[in-house]
Formats: sequence, structure tokens, C-alpha cells
Amino acid sequence: MRKPFVGGNWKMNTNFETARQLAISGAKSLHDHALDASVDVAVFPPFVYLLPVRDVIAASGASIKLGAQDAHFEPQGALTGEISIPMLRDCGVQVVLTGHSERRHILGETDEMVNAKTRAVLASGLECILCIGETLAQRQAGQTDAVNERQVRAGLANVEKDHLTAARLTIAYEPVWAIGTGNTASPADAQSAHARIRALIDSMYGPQAARAVRIQYGGSCNAANAAQLMSQPDVDGALVGGASLKAGEFVEIVRAAANPRA
Ligand code: 13P
Repeated sequence: MRKPFVGGNWKMNTNFETARQLAISGAKSLHDHALDASVDVAVFPPFVYLLPVRDVIAASGASIKLGAQDAHFEPQGALTGEISIPMLRDCGVQVVLTGHSERRHILGETDEMVNAKTRAVLASGLECILCIGETLAQRQAGQTDAVNERQVRAGLANVEKDHLTAARLTIAYEPVWAIGTGNTASPADAQSAHARIRALIDSMYGPQAARAVRIQYGGSCNAANAAQLMSQPDVDGALVGGASLKAGEFVEIVRAAANPRA
């Protein structure tokens, strides 16, 4: 059985105090209800708030992973404005997002860059969530599965099977048209995309890796729709944007992942 995994991607939101308060109330509520035991939970604050959020999590006693929204693939050097994986490790980061659609489509990241980042994160011993998903135009052109396949194959080029069987690599299926729009994928559409992605992993890495890899859904996931999405057999959790900025709502999504049919 795959343990559900829910991430809260805060994107470029919060400030020093609201980031701390969000972490304080979320961690307390998750821990009080023992939801941090039945679900893997991670939060992805902006880089500059990683340290205060790390300290809040440590003080809470909750089992919550500290995550980074991006990382450069070079370990150090003349790369003004970039953050390296060793720096993130140093700050207590355990899991890193790669290939988020906002980085691909707004900031111009290529499949090659996403692959370099994914390999560097995994080689460092940290966990990685590789984000993939089609745009509205690609969906309307019937290219959903082809785009997902291209992004998975490119993102995982030269990634060893061990990372998948050990569940250090998670895939987040985040259809771009669903992100921040309120247009959530239907549970059936999410299930169909996830099943295709799992079958692709089976063909690339074999059944053990396909059984182990967790596939999160992302895109306007909220407290109202989470339980239905999580009840799909190939949906192993969620990567949550807007709804992760409200502690109560995020906790309800984690609860839905813990009890998908409730
Ligand atoms: P929303 O939940 O705001 O749609 O964002 C999803 C997302 O991009 C998470 O990485």
C-alpha cells in the first residue's frame, strides 16, 4: 500500500509572520489529530521563510517534511539569484519540487533543465516531486497522455529505478488548466491520467516501481473536492496551492487523504 502524500505549495505567498502562523496552526492541528502519522505531509514555503518554518515544525513535534519549490542543479558557482541543493539540505529541506508548470511556462524551464534538477535532487539523497501536466490547448487537442508521457520520460531520463522503488520520487500530475482556476479535474479524468502515468512507469521501470511510485493530483484541490479525488485508486495524495494557504482547509485535505472514502 502506498502511503498518501500531501504537499502544500505556498508559491510566492506569505510574509515572515504569516508563514510562521500558517505553519504553527497547520502543524498543531495535524499533530493533534494524528494525521501526520497516516499521511506524509510536506510544506513548500518561499526560500526566505524555510528557516522559520523549519523551526516551527521542529517545535511542534509534528512529522512534516520541509520542502523547497525549486533548486538549481549545480552545487555552487556564479549563478546569481539561484539556490543550490546543498544549501537547501543545510536549511533542513527534505523534498524539492521540480518542473512545476509555473517554472516551465512562465519562467521558461525546459525538459532538459527539469531532468538535470530531478537527477541532482535525487543524487543528493533528498526526495523529489516531479510535476507534469498538459495545458488547456494541449488538452483540447487530445494530447494529454502524450504530453504527460513526454514530460515523464524527459524528466526521468537517466534516473535510476531505485529512487522509484524506494518512493523517493513522486510524480505530481497538475493539469495547467486546473491550477488556480477553480476548474478541478473530475475524479474520473484524474484517475485516467494517473493510471496512464503508472502504466508508463511500469513500462519504463517495471511493476515494482509502478506499484511504489506515488502520483499526486494538483490543480484547484480543496477541502470540498479532495475526498472524491483521493478515493481514486491511482491518486496517492495532492499537491495543493491556494488551499494550502489556509491551515484549516489544508488539514481537511490531509484528512481526506487519510480517509479517502469518508
Ligand atoms: P492550486 O491548488 O492553487 O490550483 O495550485 C496547484 C499547484 O500548482 C500546486 O503546486
